[in-house]
Amino acid sequence: MTRGAIVVGASSGIGEALVRTLAERGYDVGLAARRTDRLNEIASEIPTTAHVATMDVTETDSARETFFALAERMGRVDLVVVSAGVGELNRSLEWEPASETVAVNVRGFTAIASAAMAYFETRAEAPTDGSNRRYDGHLVGISSVAARFGNPGAPTYNASKAYVSRYLEGLRTRQETRPTNVTITTVEPGFVDTEMAMGETLFWMSSPETAAAQIATAIEKRRSHVFVTRRWRLVAWLFEVLPEPIVRRLLT
Ligand SMILES: NC(=O)c1ccc[n+]([C@@H]2O[C@H](COP(=O)([O-])OP(=O)(O)OC[C@H]3O[C@@H](n4cnc5c(N)ncnc54)[C@H](OP(=O)(O)O)[C@@H]3O)[C@@H](O)[C@H]2O)c1
Repeated sequence: MTRGAIVVGASSGIGEALVRTLAERGYDVGLAARRTDRLNEIASEIPTTAHVATMDVTETDSARETFFALAERMGRVDLVVVSAGVGELNRSLEWEPASETVAVNVRGFTAIASAAMAYFETRAEAPTDGSNRRYDGHLVGISSVAARFGNPGAPTYNASKAYVSRYLEGLRTRQETRPTNVTITTVEPGFVDTEMAMGETLFWMSSPETAAAQIATAIEKRRSHVFVTRRWRLVAWLFEVLPEPIVRRLLT
């Protein structure tokens, strides 16, 4: 039976590139986000079977219902990627963008990640493929290297990504005590050339296609964590070892 993958946040950027990469690697795909036209356009270009679902993750109850309905429609889902996210510079601490960042990156993320876990765990209790094996699910969250430091230019964004990374770490530890076999992968990209980057050329910036290829490989290897691209590990390490006064000087 063909493997299935749902990508939430599939209408552009990393999510779109990942949908295309996963389809090339043989997955049937479920695409979810708010821009239905864009999702349909991408779905029409996919070489495998593609299902589209319109979803606003900030409407958490209906987003979860849509997620479960999409999984049901697909028949088999092995992999769920939560890529939906927003982020913008907000040095003046405007409430509107800060509130949206929390709504999408924290509340929306949690709604879908926990729905994915519930789906995998329910499937484990009642396999639908005729076998009695434990269901082998895989949840991937797109966090950011931004999770590693407080950012004066976008404090809410970096804090929201720290939440994502810690949440996924918690799920991984939780797996130790669960009968189900669900892999949890945290992806921490550096700069990726997507709509979120708003046309800026930034150092070590990768294309969404390169990011997607590296994420797909990490998925195949069932990695717990991956930096995209790999060199961003160095930045994460620097933020870990540098004393806070020096970090402060670097960032201001
Ligand atoms: N680009 C970077 O440099 C970079 C670096 C590190 C981490 N990341 C992370 O990578 C992820 C993907 O971002 P990207 O760079 O690919 O940017 P992007 O092209 O702007 O993609 C964001 C995706 O999130 C979806 N989304 C936003 N709000 C949503 C909502 N309320 N409900 C459902 N979907 C929503 C968007 O779809 P709709 O607008 O159609 O809903 C879109 O598909 C984000 O979590 C971001 O934090 C990006």
